[in-house]
Amino acid sequence: MSSAARSVQGFDVAAVRAEFPALAQNVNGRPLVYLDNAASTQKPDAVIEAIANYYRRDHSNVHRGAHALADRATAAFESARETVARFLSGGRSEGGLVAREEIVWTRGTTEAINLVASSWGRSNLAAGDEIVLTELEHHADIVPWQMVAADTGAVIRVIPVTDDGEIDLESARGLISERTKIVAFAHVSNALGTVLPAAELIALARAVGATVLVDGAQAVNHFSVDVKALDCDFYVFSGHKLFGPTGIGVLYGKREVLDAMPPWQGGGEMIDRVSFEKTTYNRVPFRFEAGTPHISGAIGLAAAIEWLDGIDRAAAHAHEQGLLDRLDDALAGMNDVRRIGTAPGKTAVVSFLLDGSHPSDVGMLLDQQGVAVRTGHHCNMPLMTRYGVPGTVRASFSLYNTVDEVDRFLEALDKVRTFL
Ligand code: ALA
Repeated sequence: MSSAARSVQGFDVAAVRAEFPALAQNVNGRPLVYLDNAASTQKPDAVIEAIANYYRRDHSNVHRGAHALADRATAAFESARETVARFLSGGRSEGGLVAREEIVWTRGTTEAINLVASSWGRSNLAAGDEIVLTELEHHADIVPWQMVAADTGAVIRVIPVTDDGEIDLESARGLISERTKIVAFAHVSNALGTVLPAAELIALARAVGATVLVDGAQAVNHFSVDVKALDCDFYVFSGHKLFGPTGIGVLYGKREVLDAMPPWQGGGEMIDRVSFEKTTYNRVPFRFEAGTPHISGAIGLAAAIEWLDGIDRAAAHAHEQGLLDRLDDALAGMNDVRRIGTAPGKTAVVSFLLDGSHPSDVGMLLDQQGVAVRTGHHCNMPLMTRYGVPGTVRASFSLYNTVDEVDRFLEALDKVRTFL
């Protein structure tokens, strides 16, 4: 490994990498270069072991049993909720902390947004009300709102994106009005890496009394987030993009907002009393957690957060930005490359097209050389339409990537050209 790969003070990428067994493998005869982290990150041993140990020793259902294993599983599951609450408090230890009741387990970001759109949306939106989104939203932050708009008569308004992939704040000022009931936007764009001006958008929403949902799926793995300082009503993210397991995600909601929301799915756990005449519902967060939850997922996610606690996050972010700059600068100098998304301050993502090739062909030829990227529309069809492209090649970084991997990627791209 080159010395440059270790150049950020306080961050030893070689030591971090060694904790991720999946990274130490060959693919198609070459050492794996994993640059598909915006789709899903790999898992450190600490997470794999936490899940395995839970199943080896402690597994039972939660909140129900009258025995030792049920107590242990419940304690670990609820302690995981506290870990997430602390995580979303942005590292502060007192004053304005997230409460455990404000953390609802979901299957992921997508389910969390569907929960809010269905429960909050159906009880708060009426004909003519406006839902403000941005042009760079993932389908998960578009389609649930379209579904609730169709049911309620609410109207979707879209904040446009500029040529370099930023939100057009001037347009946002015009679009967010007294008719706006909710503003929902990505904290970081999954396709472009743009970091959205969350504070400004939230201030615009607050000024008209609108509710705010922030999709943090691509943010929490790159920088620390303090939802109380942001003052959003909802913040959602997925475990599997944060070094945790698939199938687990988080909906943070302000206590008073969650308290006022009707249940979403019905079943066990979400009830207070059930009779055939009338059912009353449990308190939050359990009101939104029908059925047996993803217990090992919550425990694995807490292990991922605890693992991250041992990382100097500012140094890890600086390391990632160094990789991003190296790749971006190299691609910027290539005449046959069109980069999509060049917003100042963007994070972790490089999206581009290579002249005369389809993104999926480039992806396949990179894979043959052991380089993993995502190609296509990245669940952002409206954004691809805005740029007039069918999709892009997307390389996305995590803290365990190295300078050598950037250089391997560039060498592999050179070779791709010889096949086209
Ligand atoms: N939302 C994930 C991505 O951007 C799957 O790839």
